[in-house]
Amino acid sequence: MQPTAFWLRVCRLDDIPVLGARVLEVAGADNIALFRTAGDRVFAMVDRCPHKGGPLSQGIVAGDSVTCPLHGWNIALASGEACAPDVGCARKFPVRIDGDEVWLSLDTDAAEGGG
Ligand code: FES
Repeated sequence: MQPTAFWLRVCRLDDIPVLGARVLEVAGADNIALFRTAGDRVFAMVDRCPHKGGPLSQGIVAGDSVTCPLHGWNIALASGEACAPDVGCARKFPVRIDGDEVWLSLDTDAAEGGG
């Protein structure tokens, strides 16, 4: 399915380091971090840990989660939820990969394309 006007092309897949993140600056709002897994899956969530606001983009991606650099909470990339026993959730955003282009929707109700 072709991306619609509600989707923004934000970068190329290779602009995001494997097991790392790229930050999108958003005027007037929290930045958004794009994470890339070892299997080239891409996830997006607010760059703000649900614990005390740590920069998740500076964390370490392992599997399908990222470890916050401040106090070590693990955040599931697909849901934005902290892994037990920690409790909290970072807002996530739908991502689509189309060829080597990464598309992001700021509409949290948009269907994801299997990034
Ligand atoms: S701010 Fe992320 S674990 Fe504390």
